[in-house]
Amino acid sequence: MAKYFTLDELIQRSAFTGNVEALAPGYDERERRTPSGGCHLLDEGGLGKAADFLRLAAPYADALLSAARSVRSDEALSHLAWHCQGLLEEPVNEKGYSAAWPTPSPESDEGASTLWALVLLGALDGLKARYRERAIPESILIDTLSDFQVWMDHYKATTGRLGFGQVNWLRNHFVPRIFRLGRLQFAFEHFPFELRAFHRKPGSLALVDGAGRLVPAAGGAPGAKVFDPSGWTEVVHQGCPTLGIHIPASGPLDPVACGESIHAAFAFFPKYFPGYDWKAMTCVSWLLDPQLEKSLGPDANLSRFLREFYLFPVPGANDNQLWERVFGRRYDPWEEAPTDTSLRRAVIAHLRAGGKWANGGGLIVPEGYRWGGAMYREQAF
Ligand SMILES: CC(C)(COP(=O)(O)OP(=O)(O)OC[C@H]1O[C@@H](n2cnc3c(N)ncnc32)[C@H](O)[C@@H]1OP(=O)(O)O)[C@@H](O)C(=O)NCCC(=O)NCCS
Repeated sequence: MAKYFTLDELIQRSAFTGNVEALAPGYDERERRTPSGGCHLLDEGGLGKAADFLRLAAPYADALLSAARSVRSDEALSHLAWHCQGLLEEPVNEKGYSAAWPTPSPESDEGASTLWALVLLGALDGLKARYRERAIPESILIDTLSDFQVWMDHYKATTGRLGFGQVNWLRNHFVPRIFRLGRLQFAFEHFPFELRAFHRKPGSLALVDGAGRLVPAAGGAPGAKVFDPSGWTEVVHQGCPTLGIHIPASGPLDPVACGESIHAAFAFFPKYFPGYDWKAMTCVSWLLDPQLEKSLGPDANLSRFLREFYLFPVPGANDNQLWERVFGRRYDPWEEAPTDTSLRRAVIAHLRAGGKWANGGGLIVPEGYRWGGAMYREQAF
């Protein structure tokens, strides 16, 4: 009979940090059912095939194989892997997944640092089957899972070690509730803001706040004028289903590729998820702060990207993500931050001038939309 470990013992062994409680549901019952020999990680051949399928760079594929050997030879880690494989199959909530799982810390060794990647890859065949059920092309699965490489690169860049820390993000890919279609990713989400959007003729859009005031499409706070919606049709309201746009860190934000991606999503979701009645695409990000356009000039990819959205301020937004995605971490004092790219210089110059940065929101409504002409800015009300 397999040895019984408490969850605390497994967490101590893995040196995971974060929301340890999230691993508690069903733990005791599942632990008692752990087969002798622990988890069923993919064997070497299976892992090699999975790494090939993911087009993983050779050092990462080797790291996975080596980590799998460590996990298999470590009773506690192999029990943790078994438990998490079971958790991965549990139903998800309407947000896509249950509470965030804990992740490796600097004290986690090779097996623990890579454990999450191994657990996810163990679910690859099930995911392939879910794509097949809907006849979604395998090429889209491969593109979607290119995030493994993106986040293994990120782990290496931020820790100097091989490993994988983004289990919570990648769980979305395994539901599946996020798809990469060309340059961008699209996820099933809901519109959380107290805003309503109205449409009148192809390409027109008016975004209105809770007090009925029109939000300017180029960004900034609503004006004093109350919008008169007569003759307009409401298309977006708080809580309605949307497609959230996400931008993987893989190459430049080429505007043509982004446009192709948006238009591919217009076709993809009605075809493969006809029951998903989404109303708009939304993006909330550091790179939708409208001040970036002025700071970087109109021709930067980032400026060209944000011009295609109807921009809006995000309540309570801060600059955490900007520091994380542009500098890798927050610099305090900011005078010590590197200034080796024009974006970094622009960010610091803005702070030096007394400015602030914050995440912004962007909206695209499919009715009559065409990427590439900043169409929401051209409207006269
Ligand atoms: C989004 C992204 C692809 C844009 O890169 P891009 O296409 O090169 O953007 P631009 O062409 O507008 O860049 C203008 C300048 O800013 C720099 N720059 C762009 N993104 C940068 C970043 N994240 N960190 C540092 N510098 C950056 C570019 O190198 C360029 O500098 P240069 O003029 O000195 O050559 C890039 O920022 C990225 O990969 N980010 C990580 C993913 C991310 O943030 N996703 C959104 C999370 S919600």
